Amino acid sequence: MSFMGLNLLTIAYLLGSISFILGLKMLSSPATARKGNLLAAAGMGIAILATIFLYRDNETGEPLGNYGWIFGGLLIGTVAGTLAAKKVKMTAMPEMVSLFNGMGGACAALISLVEFSHISGSIQRSGIHEGHGGTVLIILLGLLIGSISFSGSMLAWGKLNGKVKDYSFAGQNVLNLLMLALALVATVWLVIHPESSYLIYVVLLLSLIYGIMFVLPIGGADMPVVISLLNSFTGVAAACGGFLYDNKVMLTGGILVGAAGTLLTILMCKAMNRSLKNVLIGSFGATASGAAATSAQGHYKEISLSDAATVMAYANKVMIVPGYGLAVAQAQHTCHELEKILTEKGVDVAYAIHPVAGRMPGHMNVLLAEADVAYDKLQEMEDANEGFKNTDVVLVLGANDVVNPAAKTDPASPIFGMPILDVELAKTVIVNKRSMKPGYAGIENGLFFQPKTSMLFGDAKKVLQDLCSEIKNI
Ligand code: TAP
Repeated sequence: MSFMGLNLLTIAYLLGSISFILGLKMLSSPATARKGNLLAAAGMGIAILATIFLYRDNETGEPLGNYGWIFGGLLIGTVAGTLAAKKVKMTAMPEMVSLFNGMGGACAALISLVEFSHISGSIQRSGIHEGHGGTVLIILLGLLIGSISFSGSMLAWGKLNGKVKDYSFAGQNVLNLLMLALALVATVWLVIHPESSYLIYVVLLLSLIYGIMFVLPIGGADMPVVISLLNSFTGVAAACGGFLYDNKVMLTGGILVGAAGTLLTILMCKAMNRSLKNVLIGSFGATASGAAATSAQGHYKEISLSDAATVMAYANKVMIVPGYGLAVAQAQHTCHELEKILTEKGVDVAYAIHPVAGRMPGHMNVLLAEADVAYDKLQEMEDANEGFKNTDVVLVLGANDVVNPAAKTDPASPIFGMPILDVELAKTVIVNKRSMKPGYAGIENGLFFQPKTSMLFGDAKKVLQDLCSEIKNI
């Protein structure tokens, strides 16, 4: 079917590809992110429907067929995806991303298995072994990368929901490299001798085990970096499928996911001031929990709710530092309420956003956007650090690691080198959390023991509600 001489399927793929690029661009600002997501999803919808209804086999001219299977799969996927997305709590988003990413890797691996069986079938029938090298290479790369992404993402999912613990042993990295090398050797052998079809299962098995072994020792706090890396693997595996089927939209989508995942991985490593190698073989979380409860740093002082309310109500400038605890307490709306009450009293209120606060990239931006906090109230780390010296009160809400000065002062700390929010530059710091327990990295926080810091214990939502009513009465 054509329109003005252009194949309609090609036009649909072009629209799909453009929507992915525009959607991705729009994701870079909280103001346009939601629309960007919908745009890219619509583009994907067009590409899928166009493939189902407009695709024709190059040689036979036959349509796709298999409609029962296709629509059955679409229905199951749509229902499962919609229910999961509706049910998921904001704090469990990284788990869901990991699970869905694993499904993408599995798809790429399954495509490779099916296509390899077609090729090996045709080799057996014709007896001609030559001339398949390029196709077999693409198939095997898709299988290798897709399987690693699938098993790695499944393990990451298990780790994030707390069912799987970090595990490492001496020589693990050497064993991992050996397994990867074996999988690559089997891949090269199969490209040269595609008739040795049993080797495809060796590549599959080694890749699946490698994915597990590669993620197993990585510490909890490094999981987002790993998930982003696995995400880029899935993109590359999908791009292999695009090559295989000469499908432009699959190729574009795969390349975009691969590139975006790689960039996000680099950005996250930069935000924590760590190299990717250090993340992958550094076992950050393992060291961190070992270091926990050791160095008690003296006494901390508490502040009463009414004192905290008074200090804030009479301040010129208050900076709120949201962290993971704010998301746990689901206190974003109450937090916005406090901001409005303080603003009405003439206080200048802003939010300081650390790039890895919470449990996923952009977690705090999404959380505050949910409560309709104005974007111009959110300050990125560099700007916030400039502003703290002119701030009267910093209110830390359920944040811990991202305000831990050990990142700057203690070379032995597992978070040493991670840029942090320099809240101690402000005149007064009020920290709200429920106890003196450590945050994600499992280490004590010297900020809580500094003379200008006061602890305001309690669940963030309850504390914020009480603060709102106190300040209203001042
Ligand atoms: P954390 O260091 O994890 O600290 C969160 C604090 O919130 C805890 O100390 C906890 O103390 C408190 N809290 C929990 N529930 C609360 C509630 N209902 N009310 C009040 N406080 C509550 O958080 P952060 O400062 O946002 O740092 C994030 C950490 O996670 C970093 O180490 C980062 O590397 C890591 N990480 C980040 C990401 C991304 S990409 N954002 C993903 C995974 C991990 P209590 O238990 O005493 O209340």
